[in-house]
Amino acid sequence: MADADASVVRVCSRSDVAPGTVKAFAVGGATLAVYNLDGSFYATDDECTHAAASLADGMIDGDVIECCMHMGSFHIPTGRVVEPPCEIPLRTYQVVLKDDGVFVDLKRNAAGEPQ
Ligand code: FES
Repeated sequence: MADADASVVRVCSRSDVAPGTVKAFAVGGATLAVYNLDGSFYATDDECTHAAASLADGMIDGDVIECCMHMGSFHIPTGRVVEPPCEIPLRTYQVVLKDDGVFVDLKRNAAGEPQ
């Protein structure tokens, strides 16, 4: 039987991402964007699904991240598209907070479903 926690990796410390901000972190060959929305942490792919832009360079408006390249946007907690030209939802990851660390499960989305 596989180790249930094998896909859970530490991304950063909670203090690395101030409230209302997003930062990119390299994790296991991927680059993830970690968001702190008033103390609630979320993680998504950092690369916009429209083209090659870093969402960590974008702007947070409430629970939406607006891409700096063509101003498309996504709902951070679910990854759904909010504004075109983005059409493909953003991949999300389940976040686990432990001690001062922010961990993500690379095999589960924000709703805890396998992906
Ligand atoms: S690259 Fe993000 S909206 Fe175009």
